[in-house]
Amino acid sequence: MKISIILGTRPEIIKMSPVIRECEKQGLAYFILHTGQHYSYNLDKIFFEELELPEAKYNLDVGSGTHAEETGKMLIGIEKVLKEEKPGIVLVEGDTNTVLAGALAAVKSHIKVGHVEAGLRSYDRNMPEEINRVLADHVSDYLFAPTEKAKENLLRESIEESKIFVTGNTIVDAVYQNLEIAKREVDILKKLNLNSKEYFLVTAHRQENVDIKGRLKGILDGLELVYNKFNYPTIYPVHPRTKKKIREFGLEVPKGVELIEPLGFLEFLQLEANAKLVLTDSGGVQEETCILKVPCVTLRDNTERPETLEVGSNVLVGVNQNKISEGVKHMLNKDKNWKNPFGDGKAGNMITKILITSARHSN
Ligand code: UD1
Ligand code: UDP
Repeated sequence: MKISIILGTRPEIIKMSPVIRECEKQGLAYFILHTGQHYSYNLDKIFFEELELPEAKYNLDVGSGTHAEETGKMLIGIEKVLKEEKPGIVLVEGDTNTVLAGALAAVKSHIKVGHVEAGLRSYDRNMPEEINRVLADHVSDYLFAPTEKAKENLLRESIEESKIFVTGNTIVDAVYQNLEIAKREVDILKKLNLNSKEYFLVTAHRQENVDIKGRLKGILDGLELVYNKFNYPTIYPVHPRTKKKIREFGLEVPKGVELIEPLGFLEFLQLEANAKLVLTDSGGVQEETCILKVPCVTLRDNTERPETLEVGSNVLVGVNQNKISEGVKHMLNKDKNWKNPFGDGKAGNMITKILITSARHSN
């Protein structure tokens, strides 16, 4: 059974890497199709290099655009490749436009779809990612749910139980596989002149936050208040979408906040693991902080990662500056003895085993 791994953005490359490693280890027939949704070196190629992933066999180079432009170009390009390669299954990961296009092109070509990180729900249809994940789940044949909670979400939407497999999240595999490598190969604290547990780390890039001037300003005002109250330097590796919007809206970056270019996974992971606290609107970062036992303050009104709230590693504060500051105070005063709800770091192995077993049964 030939596997087509479709990916296109930073988090997909990182979270698919454990599955790709397993395909290599077990000698499975597979190829990577990159849509080209992310193309800047530090959002794309750096991860292939650091994680030692084989180059994509195809890159569609779709680049940036509106949702329809990106998704439409991807659909056309993916369909062509699938027609030629005739894989037995397409694997997609997460909730980006690449995931929607990959799943849709495959199901329409009568090719089975496996959705890694299935069943996440924010129940907020303002998020493009919520639409993508719901649609991808409903056309999938294999739904690799990271947690029991994600499985319950799928069952509530009448998805057949026999299609759902609780595997843990592949981000745990990626964190465990790369933390030690990061210690050996990079020293971002030295590079940025920081001491462990004496700085805050920020990431924010969600469309519904940074494309709205008032919300982006709320986040920056929040960071200013947090710096004035707690006095920790704040490092912000800034996503190109956010960088563009800060400039376009004419907003000031507050004192105490250092904007830097996006980092590779090894440096970012090290920066995250040593941070006193992280403020973010990223999905993956909410999970990683939970795994790394670093307190997280989420700059959103909802989350599709409620497990982090339940175990107490994360708090939702939205974009109001006072709420952000209160959230920081609350998380700094908390014990960090929570349990990681995202699995044991063997999700990649489980996913490939499930695929191998089901291929044997259908032969
Ligand atoms: C996308 C995903 C989001 C994910 C994020 C990961 C969708 C709908 N959104 O958001 O779920 O969390 O990736 O980082 O799929 N740009 C560059 N270089 C690049 C890519 C983008 O400069 O390599 C800039 C362009 O100005 C572009 C903007 O970033 O217009 C947004 O890119 P896009 O891929 O549309 O969405 P992301 O915000 O990256
Ligand atoms: N990340 C990175 N460099 C950075 C910022 C984030 O390598 O400068 C990694 C981070 O460790 C996580 C992933 O990117 O694994 C999260 O991606 P992002 O926040 O872009 O997307 P989301 O998870 O919100 O979809």
